[in-house]
Amino acid sequence: MLYQRSSALFKEAQNVIPGGVNSPVRAFKAVGGTPIFAKSAEGAYVFDEDGNRFIDYINSWGPMLLGHAFPPVVNAVIEKAKAGTSFGMPTALETEIAQLAVSMVPNIDKIRFVNSGTEACMSAIRLARGYTKKDKIIKFAGCYHGHSDSFLIAAGSGAVTFGTPNSPGVTQGTAKDTLLAKYNNLDSVEELITANDNEIAAIIVEPVAGNMGCIPPADGFLEGLRNLCDTHNILLIFDEVMTGFRLAKGGVQELKGIAADIVCFGKVIGGGLPVGAFASRNEIMNYLAPEGPVYQAGTLSGNPLAMAAGLAMLKTIQTDKGLMNRLDEKTKYLHKGIADALNKNNVDHTINRIGSMISVHFAKEPVVDFESATKGNNETFKIFFHGMLDRGIYIAPSAFETWFITDALSYQDLNETITAVEEIAKEL
Ligand SMILES: Cc1ncc(COP(=O)(O)O)c(C=O)c1O
Repeated sequence: MLYQRSSALFKEAQNVIPGGVNSPVRAFKAVGGTPIFAKSAEGAYVFDEDGNRFIDYINSWGPMLLGHAFPPVVNAVIEKAKAGTSFGMPTALETEIAQLAVSMVPNIDKIRFVNSGTEACMSAIRLARGYTKKDKIIKFAGCYHGHSDSFLIAAGSGAVTFGTPNSPGVTQGTAKDTLLAKYNNLDSVEELITANDNEIAAIIVEPVAGNMGCIPPADGFLEGLRNLCDTHNILLIFDEVMTGFRLAKGGVQELKGIAADIVCFGKVIGGGLPVGAFASRNEIMNYLAPEGPVYQAGTLSGNPLAMAAGLAMLKTIQTDKGLMNRLDEKTKYLHKGIADALNKNNVDHTINRIGSMISVHFAKEPVVDFESATKGNNETFKIFFHGMLDRGIYIAPSAFETWFITDALSYQDLNETITAVEEIAKEL
């Protein structure tokens, strides 16, 4: 495939945008080569500036659960835009999407809309600290909760891809309030709680991790966190920015039957427009301004175009009863196809999958936490990535990311993908 125009555009972009991109992982630094400049997308495909077509497994890093340019979302945005793009005043639409979200997600009474997953998680911990009147939080190594200061401590996703899980610019004062536990390891959490008696406001966790590749919670892990939080008066925050409205209409809380105290959303909830949200029961949400003392605000929060896109998305997820099952079946099919191809060629690998999230780790041992995720063979991943790209298959340009399956993928697309893996596996 030729990437001439992408290459020229990348050079031009680097003069005026740091690294040529507005979010680091897009730059292909971990895998080398030229980032693909997108021109348009439809259904399961993204088209680049050189006219190449790719089967897309990134899907804007998660939002496009129903495929690109999903007509109900596009039409809702077009219609809304004609009536004004932002007011900075409350709208009926915000209440409508809030009512729908509250009806779909267990254990929440109220929801506040923001503009990104980062904002949602950042606001959720401020709320937890204000509510509990405690300062410290526990996060898990390899989990990513956006780029706000408190979370750039052993962070996953792009932070680990570029070897800066602890970013310069985060003050020691902030860092000391973020305690680090190991994913799927309750003992590590208990030790921190014991050592910081009555100082911990919240435990924030990706209830299915997606930012060190996909890592599902071990049996009993989420239940164990719930119990520890109940025993020690700590709030449990589920960061469902990736998993919300994706793994079930009510997210992991519904899938696993575990109640969180605060839930964060992003990605799917905005249908591809910039939306995040955090939600909880009344007693906690009423701590937020203007009702309560914890401040949180946004000029464009609840933006009508974003709310229209989100509403169209959530309505489809709510009404399409077969959706989650179809996604699950497609992901299982892909899993089996890839596993067979790699096994046939004796390529060491571990595939983790849950619902419509899947990742291929080039590691022999089970991948259950950050440490085991980093044992994957990055050189193999690079060959795999470029082999896929050259065959028109676009997966995330980092071994620490999840593939997102969309409903727009046909079985022909999946077969094309499996054939590509069969070919590349012979070279690995
Ligand atoms: C679990 C999780 N939380 C938070 C975020 C941050 O969201 P955003 O990139 O919209 O700020 C991400 C982004 O990938 C995420 O995966």
